[in-house]
Parts: sequence; C-alpha cells; structure tokens
Amino acid sequence: MSVLYIRGGNPLEGELTVQGAKNSVLPILAACLLADRPVTILNCPQLTDVTAALAILRSLGCTAWQEGHTVTVDPAGASGCAISEEQMRSMRSSILFLGPLLARMGEAHLTYPGGCELGPRPIDLHLGALRAMGISVREDYGIHCCGRPSGGEVVLSLPSVGATENAMLCAVGGTGVTTIQNAAREPEISDLQQFLNTLGAHVCGAGSSTVTVEGGHPLRGGSFAVMGDRIVAATLLAAVAAAGGSVRLSGVAWRHLSPVVSVLHQAGCRVRSAEDWVALQRDPQIPLKGVATVRTAPYPGFPTDAQAPVMAALAGSCGCTLFVETIFDSRYRHVPELCRMGADITTEGRVALVRGVPRLHGAGVEAADLRGGGALAVAAVGAEGTTVLSGLQHIDRGYESLEYMLSALGGQAERRER
Ligand code: EPZ
Repeated sequence: MSVLYIRGGNPLEGELTVQGAKNSVLPILAACLLADRPVTILNCPQLTDVTAALAILRSLGCTAWQEGHTVTVDPAGASGCAISEEQMRSMRSSILFLGPLLARMGEAHLTYPGGCELGPRPIDLHLGALRAMGISVREDYGIHCCGRPSGGEVVLSLPSVGATENAMLCAVGGTGVTTIQNAAREPEISDLQQFLNTLGAHVCGAGSSTVTVEGGHPLRGGSFAVMGDRIVAATLLAAVAAAGGSVRLSGVAWRHLSPVVSVLHQAGCRVRSAEDWVALQRDPQIPLKGVATVRTAPYPGFPTDAQAPVMAALAGSCGCTLFVETIFDSRYRHVPELCRMGADITTEGRVALVRGVPRLHGAGVEAADLRGGGALAVAAVGAEGTTVLSGLQHIDRGYESLEYMLSALGGQAERRER
C-alpha cells in the first residue's frame, strides 16, 4: 500500500497549471455515448475515476483510451444497455451513464452508484427527471428504465449537479424540447453544455437555473478541452494559506473560485487574479485569522468540496471559524484526523467549530474520502514535522499526483510503499 510522506513547516513558492476538472470530464465521458463519430477530449486529468469511466464505456462496446491528458472515445460499437454492479459501485458518476445510455439504446439496467461516503447519496431526482421525459423507471434490485425521451418539464426540488447533468444528457439524445427548472448552476454544467453544443447539440441556459434542450440533433464527433479544476485549485490555495508563501495557479477561471478566495482573503491572505489565473500570498510570520462563518451552498456559493481543505488551513490560525455544511450529512470525516495533528475542532451535526491553534504537528493520518484527503495534505504542509498520509485510493480519484503538485510548489512530498 502506498502512502504520502509530507514534511511541513516550509513556505510554498512557485507556479502551476491546474489539472482538468474531474467533475466536468466525467459527465462529458458519459456524453460520448450520444455521439456517432469519435470524440477527442483534451486536458483530461489522469485519475482513477477517469479510468473507471473509460472502463464503463468499453464495457458498453465503445473503444476508449487515454494517452497522457488526451482521451479518445469511439462510440460506434456501443451496443450494451447494462452496467455491472461492480462498475456502478466504483464511483458516484457511474449514474451519469443512465441518461445517455437510455437515449441511445432505449433501455438501461444499472444498480445504485458508489462514491465518497458523504452521507446518503440518493438518486430520486435523477429518476424523477427521466420520468418527466416519458421514461418508464422500475426499481427492484437495481434500476431498470425503458423508453425514448420525448421532451418534458423537469423540475428539480434541489439544484442537484448530477440530476441536472443526467437530464441534459437524456434530453440531448431524445426528441422534443426539455426544460430543466431549478437546475444546478455549477461551472461544470456550463462546460458540459459547451461540449454538447460543440458536437452539434442545441442546449442553452447552463449557468442559470433553467436549462433548455432542443432534442433531435444527433451528436457528431469532435474535439473539446475540459475546463480547469476549481476544487484542485482551491485545495492548492488552501495549502499556501496553511504553509505561507506565494503561489500562482493558471488554467483556472478566477470567477469559479471567488467564494474560496474571499474566505482566504478574510483570513489574511493577499490575492491577485485575472481571467484564467489566481495568485495567493501569505507571510509565514503572520498567522491566519479566523473567519466568522463559512457556509457551504450550491454554486455560486461556497463549494462543499472546498470545505475540508479550507478547514484544514484555518485549523492553524489565531482565531475561530464556524463551518456550516448544508449539502451533505456526513462531510466532517477528516476532523478526527485533523485533531490527531493537534487541531481543536468540535462538530455537532452539520456544524463544525474550528478553534485555531498556532501550528499543527505531523502525524500518521488516513483519508476517508477524496476532499478529506486533500484537506489532510493541506494540514500536513502547514504542520511542523512529517505527516504520513494513507488512504490514497480516495485521493487518487480526484487529484492527479498530489505529491507532484505540492513538490512543484516547493513542498516536500513523496509517495512511498509502506
Ligand atoms: C456532485 O455530486 C459532485 N460530484 C460532488 O463532488 C459535489 O460535492 C456535489 O456535486 C455538490 O456540488 C461530481 O460532479 C462527480 P448533488 P452529486 O446531486 O451530483 C441531494 C467531489 O469531491 N440529492 O448536487 O452527487 C444529495 O444527497 C464530489 O468531487 C438528492 O437528494 O451532488 C445532496 O445532499 C463529492 N437526490 C444534494 O442533493 C438526488 O437524486 C447535492 O447533491 C441527487 C442529489
């Protein structure tokens, strides 16, 4: 089993281009099922979730492979309409194949998806969206859908990212006009719309609460470059905030990071930015300040995925911060591990009170989920001494060589076999 050895206590300095966005490329890979010609995806990160998505495409009869940061998918041979339970359990995004599979094959047989243990991960909104498009959905030991999407009015009770994406993909592959009300507004939804329209779809409204899809426009092949990963960028900014120093990240849109940048600025960091880069500085001699309240919310609010990394940075500060997690029930599994590093954090349900301490210390810690793992690496670079971080199977789902990123910014991080 491999672990990361991270030696903290030194400021970070340097520049880095941020990897492509996991949460954009995963729905885009599922969307490739809707194309009738080969699709090339550029700026695709090398992640285990991407590997899992390519395996699902191949199991459905496509040819799909990754060379470096370029993925090629040829959906011509797609013929299957079922995804195995093992593949469904490999990640949450496996559920995103439901909409395009149904649109292409007229039927789909899946089981419930896996993914990070963040509390209940229901899919009722996904299934409700398909029913609104005239699809027959039966749930008994798995999900069995049949029918051809023929347009409809989808109204989401929550602005679910995945349900919005599944509804868009099903509608693109069907006929008629579909509107999605209370759609999620995340930048990854806009990236998906841009991808679909590049291949010939007619989708509009992404980024707002109402997305409209005009079906009946089959997707041709094409090429598309995925947006930068705003959560990886947020994690690296939190790392500089924790360790001190000066870092510039390119390949990511500042406006996608503004809630995170605002919190780190309130904590005492200096930030500069332009359209596709952001730079953050923190004098190592001046400790971070506490920030009154950090409340997660759907975009454009503070992203739930950045909660753990930012908490890790503020654990070593000279004040208190109250975190309120409004999206998931169980998103504080990194807290006990941060406390092993000397953090003083109390949780009660979806609320966490962080009482800053002057400095954390190294320890042996284990990631329990993807962003919690990113948080432990943030804490480690700001801590005195060495941290041994295990649970890399979670971290490698969303961070392409986290040790490389930290080392490129002047950190001391290496992967070893334990
Ligand atoms: C996406 O998950 C992201 N994953 C998550 O990132 C992210 O935390 C989340 O959106 C919120 O921004 C990907 O894009 C692959 P949701 P998703 O549907 O689509 C409830 C990471 O670390 N809900 O927007 O699963 C749900 O329980 C991951 O990269 C229902 O009730 O999130 C949650 O409380 C973690 N019924 C809320 O909605 C449903 O049918 C938001 O979930 C679907 C969701």
